[in-house]
Amino acid sequence: MPAALPAVLTFLAVAAAVLAPAEDPSALDQKVRRFLERNRGEWRDMNVPWEDGRILHDLVVKNRHTRALEIGTSTGHSSVWIAWALAKTGGKLVTIEIDPSRHAEAVRNFEEAGVAHLVDARLADAHELVQELPGPFDFVFSDADKGWYLQYFKDVDPKLAVGGCFTAHNVLYSGGGGASRFLDYVKALPNYRTTVETGSGEGISVSCKTRP
Ligand SMILES: C[S@@+](CC[C@H](N)C(=O)[O-])C[C@H]1O[C@@H](n2cnc3c(N)ncnc32)[C@H](O)[C@@H]1O
Repeated sequence: MPAALPAVLTFLAVAAAVLAPAEDPSALDQKVRRFLERNRGEWRDMNVPWEDGRILHDLVVKNRHTRALEIGTSTGHSSVWIAWALAKTGGKLVTIEIDPSRHAEAVRNFEEAGVAHLVDARLADAHELVQELPGPFDFVFSDADKGWYLQYFKDVDPKLAVGGCFTAHNVLYSGGGGASRFLDYVKALPNYRTTVETGSGEGISVSCKTRP
């Protein structure tokens, strides 16, 4: 073997790595879209309906949110919609789930959907972790225990940037427990503008911070 061959091969390997195209955004787009379409109607773990996932996605893209937090991952349907939007805005998602098997399935789904690099999936009790995370965030989706919605909001509020939005699922659901108490509270805040997206009918409240 000529003495220079290893050096030439190393050079070619480095050159190939340097010249390799960055991840093609349209390829990621197609991968996520195919994952969502393939699994449409198959989600069984209290996951958001397709319509509500789309609402979350569109909100993140429209407002150019980049620092997202989700409370209640389950197996990851809403996370995939949010992460897909964050792929377009250049953002990242932290999502929290307390159930180990749902968390593990969500992690597998993020790999399969092609969004794992955008998601920091935490297996934890959100009652504690939401308080501990430093933020700041500019998009929050609350979809865990409804009786704790108001406390989640109070814990996140100081870490939510002006212009950021706190969203919550099931606010129109009559059995929504603490969701209505949460909704009454945020609607009365002078520094938040709150609207409710009907979507699937379960209702997503969107509370956007207008000033500190
Ligand atoms: C309605 S599901 C979330 C659905 C998910 N957002 C989706 O659309 O795919 C609520 C999830 O919150 C989780 N959860 C409930 N209490 C929690 C807590 N204290 N900390 C973290 N997760 C919690 C439940 O285990 C459940 O998987």
